[in-house]
Amino acid sequence: MRIGIGNDHAAVELKNEIIKHLTNKGYEVINFGINEGETVDYPEIGEEVGRAIVDNIVDYGVLICGTGFGISLAANKINGIRACVCSEPVTASLSKRHNNANIIAFGARIVGLEMAKAIVDSFFDAEFEGGRHQRRVNLLTDIEERVKAED
Ligand code: RB5
Repeated sequence: MRIGIGNDHAAVELKNEIIKHLTNKGYEVINFGINEGETVDYPEIGEEVGRAIVDNIVDYGVLICGTGFGISLAANKINGIRACVCSEPVTASLSKRHNNANIIAFGARIVGLEMAKAIVDSFFDAEFEGGRHQRRVNLLTDIEERVKAED
């Protein structure tokens, strides 16, 4: 599984630790984020990782900014992206199992390293359950189609 990870300047250290953690677990991790000494506006990175998913460059994304919210908002502007911002593992797991989330986001100013590891582990260990949840995810796609048609 290929995972695209992205971060702004609020989350460089946590991003580096999460790359190590996911790599040690055998995932291929591609870094779309910035590194020490750089700054960036979070929408740029959220968009880049979101596009990498819809373009099939990576399968899933991990986004980290100060709160996780801004960067997830940016990714969610892209049709086909379902980015969940959370600060604990239960929501992370359910976002995959019920909402077929393809990005998990969290805040470096909100969660510590151990919680961040628990969040990504819950997310990547979970499987989308389909069934009635597929119908609801399809309804989300329908919204995207309607909005596109109105443009
Ligand atoms: C950057 O200071 C901060 O605004 C950003 O990381 C994020 O928290 C926005 O949602």
